[in-house]
Amino acid sequence: MICNDKEAIDYMVEEANTYTKDGRVADYIPALKVADPDTLSVAIYENEKTCITAGNTEETFTLQSISKVLTLALALMDRGEDEVFSRVGMEPTGDPFNSMIKLETHSPSRPLNPMINAGALAVTSMIYGSSVDEKLGRLLAFIHELTGNSSIRYDEKVAKSEYETADLNRSLSYFMKQHGVIEDEVEHLLELYTKQCAIEVNCRDLAKIGYIIANEGKHVESQRPIIPLHIARILKTFMVTCGMYNASGEFAIRVGIPAKSGVSGGIMASVPYGVGIGIYGPALDDKGNSIAGMRLLESLSQRYDLSIF
Ligand code: DON
Repeated sequence: MICNDKEAIDYMVEEANTYTKDGRVADYIPALKVADPDTLSVAIYENEKTCITAGNTEETFTLQSISKVLTLALALMDRGEDEVFSRVGMEPTGDPFNSMIKLETHSPSRPLNPMINAGALAVTSMIYGSSVDEKLGRLLAFIHELTGNSSIRYDEKVAKSEYETADLNRSLSYFMKQHGVIEDEVEHLLELYTKQCAIEVNCRDLAKIGYIIANEGKHVESQRPIIPLHIARILKTFMVTCGMYNASGEFAIRVGIPAKSGVSGGIMASVPYGVGIGIYGPALDDKGNSIAGMRLLESLSQRYDLSIF
């Protein structure tokens, strides 16, 4: 049982924390620059009652790309697989998360998967709602239901900071609009996307969502289905093949757990039928993944034999 092993978890966090010095906090979104690079915290849900934590798990951070898993779940529930995957593919890219190259070189010109920025923008455009507020409200309500934490909101400063500097995401969106992948007004889509990325959580919230995705989409306490089983499976599969971007292959070998990272330094991991893990460590490696968070997941995987392979 991981949850009886507090001393070992504390030790692993301390050990992984030494790697933060080799990473850097994201600075291409100006508001993320202020994060403390030396922080590392983790929360682990092992069954519906036990949660073990280490480090300062009260600290909040923004979801960034981890939101892509949740918008995919919502779009799949709204529109069904056929429609979603007619606009976004299912293949890993091997390119950085914000790359445009495969949009141009592939035919038809649609994003290769929902975990890269282009794919996530297309997925967000498929969430039902008649306005940005309504769509964002539905996403927040979904996150409140998953976490049981109805105080979760988006961070206005981070959203604004990203919106004002999101010209690469703007260009991806205009390209996709030209090619009929999206129909939305680009500025409306960018407003929704930057707000979704700025939704603020802590490690416990992430661990809880990770646990639900791990356990067939059922609510942690009531066991009520929140995400249909087949969608929970799709989410985990994308987390394995594309969740850590162009580090997903190495991560699968070293760690072997479905996981999704974000440039704020968060990682959400889901060990199928077992464990949900939420990590925050804002110092990133050169691919945009939490450097200490990845080390910590490697240690956890080795010690508790968590690899799915
Ligand atoms: O769109 C962006 O660039 C950010 N809002 C999210 C990118 C991200 O988190 C990539 N993750 N490792």
